[in-house]
Amino acid sequence: MSAVIELHNIYKTYQMEKVQVHAVADASFSIQEGDFAAISGPSGSGKSTLLNMIGLIDLPTSGQIILNGIDVYKDMDLSKTLKVPRKLDAMLTELRRKNLGFIFQTFNLIPVLNVYENVEFPLKIGPSPAADSLNAGQRREWIDFLIETVGLTAWKTHKPSELSGGQRQRVAIARALVTKAPIILADEPTANLDSKNGDQILELMKKLNEDLKTTFVFSTHDAKIVGMSNHVIKISDGHILQA
Ligand SMILES: Nc1ncnc2c1ncn2[C@@H]1O[C@H](COP(=O)(O)OP(=O)(O)OP(=O)(O)O)[C@@H](O)[C@H]1O
Ligand SMILES: [Mg+2]
Repeated sequence: MSAVIELHNIYKTYQMEKVQVHAVADASFSIQEGDFAAISGPSGSGKSTLLNMIGLIDLPTSGQIILNGIDVYKDMDLSKTLKVPRKLDAMLTELRRKNLGFIFQTFNLIPVLNVYENVEFPLKIGPSPAADSLNAGQRREWIDFLIETVGLTAWKTHKPSELSGGQRQRVAIARALVTKAPIILADEPTANLDSKNGDQILELMKKLNEDLKTTFVFSTHDAKIVGMSNHVIKISDGHILQA
C-alpha cells in the first residue's frame, strides 16, 4: 500500500474579532491508495474544512500536504498567504484535475446546463483519466450509466432549478465520478438522500473502489458509511482523535 494523501501538522485558523479559532488543529494522518475512508465527527468539528484542504480548495494556515508524493506547499510561508498566488493556482488546478473528484456539501451545479450536461461538464474542461480514454460513444454510455445509477434518467434534460435538493446532490455525485479520478472527496454525500438512493450510491462508490481502486474520503454522520469504511478518522473540535 502507498499513501496517496499525507497531512502533517495541518492547522486552519480563523482570526475572529479578538480570538483565533482553530477549525483544524495539528491534524496528521495519511490516506492509502484504495482506502474507503470516513472522517466522522459532530457538526462544526472541522470535517468540511479538512476535506477542503485535502481537495486543495482551502489553504492551510500551516503544515504540510503531500498528494501522490508531491509536497504541495513546499517552500511557501503559509502564515503570510491569504490568497493562492497565481502561479500556484495553476499548479493546484492541474493537480485537482488529474487526481481529485469533489462532491461538495453545497452542490455547485451550473444553472444553465441540464442534468446530462452538468455531469458531462468535467470531461470537457481538460484532461482526466476518463476524458483521455473514452471515445464519444463510450463517454455517452458512461454518462448515461452514472445518471441511471443516481436514479435521474427521467430528469436528464432538466435544469438544476427544476430539481429537489436530493436530486441536485445526486447530479453532483455523478459529476464527481465522471472523470474516473483516482481520489474522490465527498462531503456528506448521502445527507440529503432517502435510504434507497443513499444505498445505491454507496454501492456504486464501493464498486468503483473495488473495480478501479478509486480512493474515497468522506465526511459523514452516516453510520452506514462509517460501517463500510476500512479507515475511520475521528475529529472533535478540530482535533483528530483517531487517525
Ligand atoms: N470562513 C470561516 N470563518 C470562520 N470560521 C469558520 C469558517 N469556516 C468554518 N468555520 C468554523 O470552523 C469550524 C469547523 O467548520 P466545518 O464546516 O469544517 O465543520 P463540519 O464538521 O463540516 O460541520 P457540519 O457537520 O455541520 O458540516 C466551525 O466552528 C465553523 O464555524
Ligand atoms: Mg461540513
